[in-house]
Amino acid sequence: MSSQTTVRRPYVPDDAVNPTSQPCVMLIFGASGDLTKRLLVPALYNLACDGLLSDRFALLGAAMDELTTDTFRARMSEDIKKFHTRHTFDQAVWDNLVRRFHYLPAGFADLNAFGKLKGEVGRLDAEHKIGGNVLFYFATAPRFFGLLCEQLHKAGFKDGPGWKRIIVEKPFGTDLASALQLNKDVLAHWHEDQIYRVDHYLGKETVQNLLAFRFSNGMFEPLWNKHFIDNIQFNVSEAVDVEGRGGYYDSAGVLRDMMQNHMFQMLAYLCMEVPGSFESNAIRNEKAKLLEAVRVYTPEEVARYVVRGQYGPEVDDKGKVVRPGYRQEKDVDPQSKTETFAAARFHIDNWRWEGVPIYLRSGKALWKRGTEIIVEFKKAPQVLFRSTPVREIGANRLIFHIQPYQGIEVQFQAKIPGPTLQLQPVNMRFGYGDAFKASRYTGYEVMIYSCSYGDATLFSRGDLVEAAWRVAQPLMDYWKATPADFPNYARGSWGPTAAEDLIGRDGRRWFELLTDDVLKKIEIFKDGDPLFLSQIILALRPEVMARGEILMHKGDMGREMYVVVRGEVEVVDEHGGVVKTLKDGDVVGEIAMLIHTPRTATVRAKTNCDLMALDKASFSRILRDHPQFGDSITRVAKERYNLEILLETLLGEAPRV
Ligand code: BG6
Repeated sequence: MSSQTTVRRPYVPDDAVNPTSQPCVMLIFGASGDLTKRLLVPALYNLACDGLLSDRFALLGAAMDELTTDTFRARMSEDIKKFHTRHTFDQAVWDNLVRRFHYLPAGFADLNAFGKLKGEVGRLDAEHKIGGNVLFYFATAPRFFGLLCEQLHKAGFKDGPGWKRIIVEKPFGTDLASALQLNKDVLAHWHEDQIYRVDHYLGKETVQNLLAFRFSNGMFEPLWNKHFIDNIQFNVSEAVDVEGRGGYYDSAGVLRDMMQNHMFQMLAYLCMEVPGSFESNAIRNEKAKLLEAVRVYTPEEVARYVVRGQYGPEVDDKGKVVRPGYRQEKDVDPQSKTETFAAARFHIDNWRWEGVPIYLRSGKALWKRGTEIIVEFKKAPQVLFRSTPVREIGANRLIFHIQPYQGIEVQFQAKIPGPTLQLQPVNMRFGYGDAFKASRYTGYEVMIYSCSYGDATLFSRGDLVEAAWRVAQPLMDYWKATPADFPNYARGSWGPTAAEDLIGRDGRRWFELLTDDVLKKIEIFKDGDPLFLSQIILALRPEVMARGEILMHKGDMGREMYVVVRGEVEVVDEHGGVVKTLKDGDVVGEIAMLIHTPRTATVRAKTNCDLMALDKASFSRILRDHPQFGDSITRVAKERYNLEILLETLLGEAPRV
């Protein structure tokens, strides 16, 4: 780590309007590419709309494409209509912004082009009375980073008054050696405190809030250690596949694409020690220390603590491929060994976390989209409840919902009203959308804004990046050297079963958070309001079924329904013939539960399965509290199952169909 100047964020009194960004010329390399139109320009536009962009600002785009300032402005004016994130478009704000956009074609190897860029930056600086500040943004492939740094240096961009800062897009290196080399190249002519390495997760409000939450709420910090926390799970599930980015992804994989950067950043925020202050280096020092304390695995440890996966195609009941597997994606090697899923248990070898398992899991083409961090506390002793109907006390959990639902939730036990002592998990939930005006930001606004103030808190530092690669490297080495049994999970599932075994060996399970989005995919819940759905989610009880086990017998009274979380169940007729196979995300048993009638078929587990059960009593109780939802269920029952259900039946009263 190099010595760095400590920068304070601008002091903003409580009731003051935020000051505008610092004046600067923003010189974007790669300005004709995707990032500029999708994120950077919409972010600048958001800042302008909110009065946060300095009037003394100009943008100079540079790229290989032979555009003119006029064509660049015209393109951006088209694109902003598509990519802006606000409810309405403010033409006047845009006009005022776009007239400050300029463009010069530039081959990055051509020093003359840098001379011209310097001249243009000087002209814009004088025209807008900027005072010499230049923000360079490298929105290019990483192979250009070193070259760009060198050319800027040679062209004399470092000279003159004002600050000069470089924002570097990810990925920063593809392994430890390349990251070390890249740091060397970038720092050959520039100082560490001029380099701002982007990790867009740090621009997310919910990620920034991890720090605010931990250090502004006295009640949690005393519990934040191995004495009270049983385990922590970081889950980043993506429902999307590689979305046409096979060329890039096939040389990356989920470890490089998500874990080594975004997930390790969240890990560092959640587990780091208390910094001396909120100054950027105080925070980044603690993050670096934390990442340096993550155990670097031996090959044996990789084999034991890490699993990888790759999605296969989605096939319909007749075995026809509905959507391709990873190896059939465009620009992907048909024999690819690249992982699209990984799950790992990490160890943080320090005083605070020794022995606390830290589980990370991420993948593409999974059943749901959702990023959550689950902090599971040690359970209360069971002994007191021996003589009560309570069979098991659940753990308290603190859940950070990062996206798409944004919020924080505490789960605890409460007594179910009634004459006997029975418990049910309940929650207290804070939703960003309820408490604050929902953020319309892309995440890049705060990064551009804080970089203009020299505040590097939201950027990664060289030593941090290297520490993260040090942890990831043995995994990559081990995977390269060992064969992969791919594909090993189906598109749209919860990932490979090996991930279950990984955590199952520790006597734990992944805490699957069903979100409103997931529940809404289930027909009968699709019109549920957030409160109703959150009650249902809490009432769901995890159940495990071994292959061949019978989930329900034909003729049994229907007392619960199941969501298949992972695995396959089959509906069989009286001769044992399979009528239908259900898999991740499907529901079974809902009709008999709704109308309280005998099951019409037998259902058994085709594979080992994880299920979520919702019993009729809980369902009816929740429905009694939300009677307005009864109408929607009766409607769905009619439309979908052709059943006439009376509200009383739904509420668990006498069956009347
Ligand atoms: C990017 C990855 O960094 O992050 C993508 O390259 C991934 O593969 C994306 O989909 C996820 O970001 P977000 O903000 O949608 O969680």
